[in-house]
Amino acid sequence: MISILILNGPSLNLLGTRQPEVYGTTTLADVEAMCLQKAEKLGVSVECHQSNHEGALIDWIHAARGVFDGIIINAGAYTHTSIAIMDAITSVEIPTLELHLSDIHAREEFRHVSYIGKVAFDAIMGHGADGYPMAIERMVKELQK
Ligand code: DQA
Repeated sequence: MISILILNGPSLNLLGTRQPEVYGTTTLADVEAMCLQKAEKLGVSVECHQSNHEGALIDWIHAARGVFDGIIINAGAYTHTSIAIMDAITSVEIPTLELHLSDIHAREEFRHVSYIGKVAFDAIMGHGADGYPMAIERMVKELQK
């Protein structure tokens, strides 16, 4: 069975109340439930983690080697700063999909740079919480190629 690791970075634990005009009113628990539902529908398994700490995200990426077939990551603000997360993704050689609730290219210029985008095979953004099930579908399509 295809297994997918879903990682959420800093401040995504505050989804639902954090700038709802930008990120919507769906909570992280709702998002994770949507992911589990989508996975069940597609016959794949998903495991979700969130951390506000760069190193914790890197540890999960490292531990994914040989365990998960794909990684979906919304690295939050680390997207725009973290060469360390980019290197971790490169190191484990697991197909990785970049995910954002908002369209980072339609926002402030400092969000236009994505280190995750440099190593991900594709990106899904601007669809709010619906982007999560969309990302699972995209990942499954990629892994079944
Ligand atoms: C985000 C976009 C990032 O620029 C921001 O720092 C986030 C959330 C998104 O999902 O739209 O924390 O990754």
